[in-house]
Amino acid sequence: MANINRCYSIEDLNKKARKALPGVVYDYIAGGAEDEITVKRNRDSFSAYEFAPRVLRDVRQIDLSATMLGKAYSMPLFCAPTGMSRLFHYQGEKAVARAAYQANIPYSLSTVSTCSIEEIAALSHGSNFFQIYVWHNRDLVSEFINRCKTCRYDGIILAVDVAVFGNRERDLRNGHGRPLELQIKTALSGLTKLKWFFRFLTSGKLKMANMVDHLPYGGDAQKAIDTVNEQFDASVTWDDAKKLRDKWEGNFILKGIQCVDDAVKAADMGATGIVLSNHGGRQLDFAPPALDILPEVVNAVKGKIEIFIDGGIRRGSDVIKAMALGANGCMIGRPYLYGLAAAGEEGVKKALDILKTEMERVMRLIGCDAIKKLDSSYIKKISSL
Ligand SMILES: Cc1cc2nc3c(=O)[nH]c(=O)nc-3n(C[C@H](O)[C@H](O)[C@H](O)COP(=O)(O)O)c2cc1C
Repeated sequence: MANINRCYSIEDLNKKARKALPGVVYDYIAGGAEDEITVKRNRDSFSAYEFAPRVLRDVRQIDLSATMLGKAYSMPLFCAPTGMSRLFHYQGEKAVARAAYQANIPYSLSTVSTCSIEEIAALSHGSNFFQIYVWHNRDLVSEFINRCKTCRYDGIILAVDVAVFGNRERDLRNGHGRPLELQIKTALSGLTKLKWFFRFLTSGKLKMANMVDHLPYGGDAQKAIDTVNEQFDASVTWDDAKKLRDKWEGNFILKGIQCVDDAVKAADMGATGIVLSNHGGRQLDFAPPALDILPEVVNAVKGKIEIFIDGGIRRGSDVIKAMALGANGCMIGRPYLYGLAAAGEEGVKKALDILKTEMERVMRLIGCDAIKKLDSSYIKKISSL
């Protein structure tokens, strides 16, 4: 396991992840669509704000706790759904779910995960959410929802930014989507990272664990990629989303909302939350960063629906800025994946800990002792940017 004691930032964990992983696997995490302009702009969007600190306040005790979707958590963070996590570290999604549970923040499992809805429910008694797509095979989607009911998941997250798969050229060059090539390239590239390669070979076949009974080859992930890609349905509309919403009584969140009009539609259709998200820049290049549209969305729907953002969050200060602008919470993807790749569960804990410590420090330095007290008076848009 990589030594992460001297990792002081998410960027330090990113460097460790890059060292630990074969290039093709690292690219799959870090890469985005086309010229990766949105990946970069997601990050830059946070630099457009500075703080307006208050001084001489008693900030010994900082309360980071936040209520999200009806439950109290230790901080306003949410682990975003990310597929295929066992490719990054043999402990996969289980490590992330355990770390999230221990940190008392919600976890979301991707449909295309390497461990199942039931496995996560068995190991974590924290808040688990399940991310679905409206696939061609609507029966399979209904089956997922029923399994989440049985396993008492806290909510369903419907990804709505996937009419088609994003044009991820790093992955195309690396042979993803072409199973045989993926196997060969991953293996060859893995030879340069022996620790990863040894674990990859000895920890069992990667599986699309939620659909082993539905896919050819028993769900073998690499062979099933084509079958899964064929499931994406470009004809999906708000009516389909509403039908799914009606099948699930609890929290229902639309992830991938990118404009005010759709935020209003989501509230009108009875969703309990939205994630302003461009999928970490992995779908549409030149999609807007969530932070840029947050203020107008807050203006339009705050109080009717909970508003989360993701994309480019790498610092505790990023979370504080989003909360000051009116978000109910923030999702992170790559930050915990870098931790996972660097050091498994310990690495995920480290990522969450770094963000928490940074949040506490920023809160002290801006003179605000509770997340709940944050408002737009604590930040200022830098007009020259
Ligand atoms: C490797 C990887 C896999 C992902 N897989 C999924 C997925 O299966 N479903 C989904 O809705 N979003 C997926 N996402 C997007 C994340 O949920 C989230 O929107 C994004 O990572 C946020 O940006 P950030 O990585 O900059 O924090 C994935 C992201 C990454 C990096």
